[in-house]
Amino acid sequence: MSNFNSSLPIGIFDSGAGGLTVAAAVKNLLPDEKIIYFGDTAHLPYGDKSAETVENYSLRITDFLLEKNCKIILIACNTASAAAFESVKKRAEGKAIVLNVIDPATEYIAKHENLKKIGVIGTKGTIKSNTYTTKINAIAPDKEIVSLATPMLVPMIEEGFIYDNISNAIIKEYLSDETLQGIDGLIPACTHYPIIKNQIRKFYNFKTNIIDSSVVVAQKLKEILSENNLLNTSETSPKHEFYVSDYTDFFKTLAEMFFDDEVNLQKMYLQ
Ligand code: DGL
Repeated sequence: MSNFNSSLPIGIFDSGAGGLTVAAAVKNLLPDEKIIYFGDTAHLPYGDKSAETVENYSLRITDFLLEKNCKIILIACNTASAAAFESVKKRAEGKAIVLNVIDPATEYIAKHENLKKIGVIGTKGTIKSNTYTTKINAIAPDKEIVSLATPMLVPMIEEGFIYDNISNAIIKEYLSDETLQGIDGLIPACTHYPIIKNQIRKFYNFKTNIIDSSVVVAQKLKEILSENNLLNTSETSPKHEFYVSDYTDFFKTLAEMFFDDEVNLQKMYLQ
């Protein structure tokens, strides 16, 4: 059975709360779309796990979102986008369109000539996969890509160290790494990082271009929905659904911050 019907929901998933930054950008750009969000908090972080494990988790979540009749599945996690995009696409073939968070950022970089040397920061899994470098160089071979794994940022954010001395010190330590010197733009290649984007901007004295992929991804999603006649045109305000594989206070706080309505959080452990 195919889910290609404009009134059906958009499925979005991440290892935890990071993907909410993408979900919020989608909600702001496409307020008529219903979102079904899955945060795999029981298995967070994905960034330190093997690609095979992340792929297995991603496929279980895909099955869940397909059962919920999602017309499109957005992998709102860089680590899972790098490890599982092809297999998720295969699993959803003929049922739902699949979008990752890496391709839209890659296209953005390719289009901007002033961005010659690009820094990529992300989880160990994302950086080890080399996906950004491979994808950017495939369409824009003249770009120089330098990357650095910044594994402490996700636990730091999940523990609520966001606007304080601890977070500023960790951010400074990572961004001062010699690998990242002389860049024209930075891709914070983890969906948790938009939460600390102001500190990242501040580190660069607001001079370096920081690519907010949540916005770029939401725009790409709109384009794809429109090309496939899947934009929801009904006028009812959608009731979003949020699922987590384990309750965390951070998830609830962040979901309520991004989605003004009361967030009805449901626990769903996927076997
Ligand atoms: N938000 C995920 C990403 O974009 C990573 C968080 C994790 O390590 O689970 O890569």
